[in-house]
Amino acid sequence: NHLSSYRNRYYASSYGKTSAEWIRTHWQTIAAGRSDVTTELFTACTNCGTQPSVILTIQGTDLPNEVVVLGAHLDSINSSTRNDPNQLAPGADDDASGIATLTETLRIALADGWQPRRTVKFMGYAAEEVGLRGSNAIAQSFRASGVNVVSVLQVDMTNYKSGAVADMNLISDYSNAALKNFFVALFDAYLAPMGLTRGSVTCGYACSDHASWTSAGYPAAMMAEPTFFTRLHTTTDTLAYMGDSAAVSVNFAKLGLAFVGELGKTHTVRRRNGSQP
Ligand code: CO
Repeated sequence: NHLSSYRNRYYASSYGKTSAEWIRTHWQTIAAGRSDVTTELFTACTNCGTQPSVILTIQGTDLPNEVVVLGAHLDSINSSTRNDPNQLAPGADDDASGIATLTETLRIALADGWQPRRTVKFMGYAAEEVGLRGSNAIAQSFRASGVNVVSVLQVDMTNYKSGAVADMNLISDYSNAALKNFFVALFDAYLAPMGLTRGSVTCGYACSDHASWTSAGYPAAMMAEPTFFTRLHTTTDTLAYMGDSAAVSVNFAKLGLAFVGELGKTHTVRRRNGSQP
């Protein structure tokens, strides 16, 4: 709701910058009191306008050089007025739903003082709608400096379901085959017992930021909503057209938790007062 209240989150508008800064501040607040968590604005993208990407890092306890990434794009666009910095582009499903999914995953992961053995990075990408620019800049930068990213989860459009369809769809292309199999295993171990079902869809093109990681040589894959929300990139991509509920996205937060729990190699649970077991 907060993200879709901006007029837009277009990469070349002032709202594109202030909404990204809000995400950084909000994630920082969730991680308050955690000296092993840092947040930053990634501004090294040369074609992202004034819009930064946002990165929150939970430092791994004993495998800090192995990095697990969860990502979603933070920008939005209205395809009929796409160059206008004042365009109306609420982008509730595309992709405020993905940022909300990451935010909820982060909130729950930190609520009990969970600490991963591997380093975990939550990322909100700039300028996805104009060609995956923010994620591409980060992935190429990580590749150039030799960062060992072991897995990347992408969530883009998580909140629309219409009719009797599967609860979640694995994107079949521009992804890593072994990681796709792992997503299926995660789903079957954690979500299927809750009564949830999965399907698979093919984008047919580099449809989201997982493709930036794939082309940089890192294992990435993506899960998407049950029914493709055709109001994307219009003035009516709002929660009102998704039943005024985020219930569909909740399943993706569960997947995010299974993903960080298994790939972060859960280590210790620290008490909220900071004492170490
Ligand atoms: Co999107």
